[in-house]
Amino acid sequence: MPETRAARARVAVLISGRGTNLAALLYASRLPDCPYEIVLVASNDPQAGGLAIAEAEGIKTFALSHRGMDRTAHDDAMDAAIRSSGADYVALAGYMRVLGDAMVARWTGRMVNIHPSLLPLYPGLDTHARAIEAGDSHGGATVHLVTSELDNGEPLGRIEVAILRGDTPDTLAERVLFAEHQLYPRALADYVSRSSDPEHLLARVRELALALPNTHERESHGSPGWRVGSEKSGKFFAYFSDHHHGTPHVSLLAKCGSMDELDGLVEAQPHAYHKPAYYGASGWIGVILNREGLDWDDVSDWLERSWRQVAPRSTTRLLDAADEF
Ligand code: GRF
Repeated sequence: MPETRAARARVAVLISGRGTNLAALLYASRLPDCPYEIVLVASNDPQAGGLAIAEAEGIKTFALSHRGMDRTAHDDAMDAAIRSSGADYVALAGYMRVLGDAMVARWTGRMVNIHPSLLPLYPGLDTHARAIEAGDSHGGATVHLVTSELDNGEPLGRIEVAILRGDTPDTLAERVLFAEHQLYPRALADYVSRSSDPEHLLARVRELALALPNTHERESHGSPGWRVGSEKSGKFFAYFSDHHHGTPHVSLLAKCGSMDELDGLVEAQPHAYHKPAYYGASGWIGVILNREGLDWDDVSDWLERSWRQVAPRSTTRLLDAADEF
């Protein structure tokens, strides 16, 4: 049977200027196996050079000047265009507008930016001049998640660029730009692949499972699992299942409240839940992890629920007491 190609993540790119990073992202997306595609290029400046590149390459564009508009209204219009393009992610590439908190909140975990410094050094403007002035040996660039604090979200990738004797902000900027063009497509590709990368998913589940009191990891039939209680007599409250019995799912198996609840969830939300082979019959639900839009707070809730069902009363009391504070 021919292997079906996984759907690529859809990315909207926001620009304000010439769009060389956009071009780097775009041409990387046209190479084989790139896990993302660009579905929209949007700008707050209708004259932005990058818009012409996008048009020539057959990519949808949207331009709306921010002049005379308040920030929220402009953000909302950009957001509407992004949503109607079907984008899963937003990549800021020289977008020179500060986004309002509401816009940032709507795209939490799905909006990235490239900044021309080795963050946390030099957020904001004039990064190259500041690095030279400080006598730094290297400048560089950082790709990071966007949060409401300027240039302060989780870094997803960094690249260093040596500062040469005699560098000016312009000569350094020129070399950093080459580095940016290498970094951004790679960091974006890695980031959008996380949602289907079993290793990444396992690491996150492990972190959440082991954050619950009195837990440890134990393999079960070749799969990682987590138990509550002592090493000797603990009980499993979660398993990690990676394409178990040929299913397309990477999932967390957690104890469901009842068979009715399990069947109801699987029927109503088949993209989010499945009934795992063998385990399903004894009340374990498969919470599907390898999907866009997964909410990790839900995963955390499932782990806690399951843990509560299995943990001895003396242990759940610990968490109840902690919850009261
Ligand atoms: C880049 O230096 C990027 O780091 C910064 O804005 C500049 C955009 O340049 N955020 P370009 O439009 O991609 O050429």
